[in-house]
Amino acid sequence: MSNDFSYLSEAGTDKSGLIKGLQLIQAKEGYVPDDGIRAVAKHFGVAEAEVEGVLTFYAQFKRQKPGKYQICICDGTACHIKGSTQIAAWLSAELGIKDGETTEDGLFSIETVACLGCCSLAPVMSVNGKVYGKLDRKGLTRILNDYKKLG
Ligand code: FES
Repeated sequence: MSNDFSYLSEAGTDKSGLIKGLQLIQAKEGYVPDDGIRAVAKHFGVAEAEVEGVLTFYAQFKRQKPGKYQICICDGTACHIKGSTQIAAWLSAELGIKDGETTEDGLFSIETVACLGCCSLAPVMSVNGKVYGKLDRKGLTRILNDYKKLG
């Protein structure tokens, strides 16, 4: 991972570019690390606490490094009706993490998203963009084990 945030210059130096600066970091790093907060604070001449406040306010920003395998669990209407809440609960239990978190080994992260665009397969999740549909507990465990084996 690069700790060079020189690309922040693309957001200008006016404070109004602060969110853009954070978006740039997230686009490049996949999340906003602590040193990214420090870099933004320094770049825009604001307190780190102010940057933290912006991060907390906008749900779009991730503070944890995403896992090698990024799991998106769909909670759109069709998936919700077909039990996505239960799928999410199983997923959390299997991996020991909650929505928005990453496993300690860095392998998996979970994110709840809206419709993944394949409602006829509900309930659905994706792993690094690959879609898995008609999920049940057995299928979920099998998918996770396959990724664990890959390491
Ligand atoms: S609601 Fe889940 S894929 Fe559409």
